[in-house]
Amino acid sequence: MMDGELRMGRLRWWHLTAVARMERVVFGPEAWSEGLLWTELAAGHDYRAVFDADRVVGYAGVALGGHEAWINNIAVDPERRRRGVATMLMDDIVARARAAGAKAVFLEVAVDNEPAQRLYDRYGFYGIGVRKNYYQFTGTDAAVMRMDL
Ligand SMILES: CC(C)(COP(=O)(O)OP(=O)(O)OC[C@H]1O[C@@H](n2cnc3c(N)ncnc32)[C@H](O)[C@@H]1OP(=O)(O)O)[C@@H](O)C(=O)NCCC(=O)NCCS
Repeated sequence: MMDGELRMGRLRWWHLTAVARMERVVFGPEAWSEGLLWTELAAGHDYRAVFDADRVVGYAGVALGGHEAWINNIAVDPERRRRGVATMLMDDIVARARAAGAKAVFLEVAVDNEPAQRLYDRYGFYGIGVRKNYYQFTGTDAAVMRMDL
């Protein structure tokens, strides 16, 4: 598929139906529902997306507060991968976490999720712990990772 010009923007409630659809494709039974995504936005968590025209091709949510930032979610449309979309999202998160005075960024990632781990390696994330059976449907463990700012 051809890429148009990609731009970053805020994720708004009117994007959530499309995002919930992408969640189902990307995460299957672990997908966040549209209702849960609404709750995330209502809780004030900052969600940004990469758009091709008006179409969401990737999105990420971050909770900024105090001296830490938590990445809640990051996903890219399977048809748009390996073109730097997640990198745009991560660069933006790191810049905003820094600007907010955070000292570290944290996230959880499935221990068998190699693409995501490669991405996080590039940013200098390192493992600080493991949550056993973190993912409800697969029982997969999650690695808790930290990046110092
Ligand atoms: C992980 C994910 C967000 C990466 O998105 P992306 O837009 O394809 O990533 P980018 O194009 O910015 O890739 C940046 C770098 O990450 C690494 N990477 C990304 N996908 C990879 C893959 N499939 N295999 C190996 N390395 C990979 C590479 O180092 C890549 O740089 P390169 O393309 O120059 O080699 C995407 O694969 C995805 O949505 N996966 C499913 C959802 C998910 O696992 N989310 C994370 C949950 S914690």
